[in-house]
Amino acid sequence: MTSETSHTPGAAGTPAFTVLIPTYNERENVPELLRRLVAALLPADRPQDAPVPRLLFVDDGSDDTAQLLTAAADDCPLPITVLHRDVPEGGLGGAIVAGLRQVCDGGGDWAVVMDADLQHPPNLVPELVATGRRERADLVVASRYLEGGSRQGLADRYRLVVSGASTLLAKGVFPLELQGISDPMSGFFALRTAAVDPAELRPLGYKILLELAVRSRPRRVAEVPYHFGERFAGESKSSLREGLRFLRHLTGLRFSTPGGRALAFGLIGLSGVLPNLGLLHLLTQAHMHYLPAEVLANQAALAWNFALLEATVFRSRRHRHWASRTARFWALGNADLLLRIPLLALLVSGLGMGVLWATALTLVASFAVRFLIAERSIYVP
Ligand code: GDD
Ligand code: MN
Repeated sequence: MTSETSHTPGAAGTPAFTVLIPTYNERENVPELLRRLVAALLPADRPQDAPVPRLLFVDDGSDDTAQLLTAAADDCPLPITVLHRDVPEGGLGGAIVAGLRQVCDGGGDWAVVMDADLQHPPNLVPELVATGRRERADLVVASRYLEGGSRQGLADRYRLVVSGASTLLAKGVFPLELQGISDPMSGFFALRTAAVDPAELRPLGYKILLELAVRSRPRRVAEVPYHFGERFAGESKSSLREGLRFLRHLTGLRFSTPGGRALAFGLIGLSGVLPNLGLLHLLTQAHMHYLPAEVLANQAALAWNFALLEATVFRSRRHRHWASRTARFWALGNADLLLRIPLLALLVSGLGMGVLWATALTLVASFAVRFLIAERSIYVP
């Protein structure tokens, strides 16, 4: 069950933009956060008739943050909506997607996502939106890694190292998708609502920006530096469990693109050389004739590839019965062996191609065909 309360002072209408704030037991931070947001978003010199931004809180906690916000809304010059989720599906990422669904449905042309604990400076919010509008960007990331930014709020060394390592890992796994994003772990960013479709997001845990960058592929990205401050009150909810979730999120995301799956399929295929040669060596040592040994070694490579692909690339696509997947994979692997020999003969004897070139060509062709069949007929989406 999700309950929602709204408070809209003055004229209702499309807000200038929405500030989307996930909360989990943040009662001690919310009053100060509201004060600073009002100061930042409604400065004295602002034109009277300009549209007012809106605040949207998505609360999953069990303390009285939601009630506190609802009560504060009566005196707050900014319109406040509070969404309380009794079933906090997807954790922090899920809360943000739930909020984005609302924003994309009439919450203005921009959404700014920020934390409630004041580690993200509220006075940067207008600048994020202004930068996005000025530079016609789809996404503006507040970055701790640009000149003029810092990670001073990550006080202890352990968190500094974990955060730096996660950033490097994410950038290594998604070099193209994260181009122009120096801080993919940031939880502070502005989004042009027309550039995202919340229905295509499948967040897992904390790293919602990573999810957005990979699945929504914003065309233009801008960045603004900021100082990641210390928590105003209370404790961080991130944990070792979140760290493990991050790794699962990263692999799931990587295998969500056809390019990522093709690359991993190829690498796993290559790694099959190890069990293949290993078994071949053992069997010929045991005086088996090399031809049957060859056939058995190939079966070992097939089993190896099958196990690895099932556990990684196609993990989320194991919809067919296991017996059907096994039979199809085995048939595909052996058909490949049978078909490649006559093709090779055709290329070499028929067309006069060199043996090495012909072998390389048949390997590449067989890789493409096997990948397509695996995707289309064994591991259907
Ligand atoms: N609705 C909801 N549901 N909100 C949550 C949940 C949840 O399950 N978990 C945390 N939050 C809220 C917190 O109340 C806070 O407003 C914000 O999300 C960030 O949570 P923190 O517990 O303060 O996380 P952090 O400071 O360790 O992590 C922040 O910094 C990271 C970079 O170092 C976040 O901004 C991360 O997104 C960011 O990656
Ligand atoms: Mn925090």
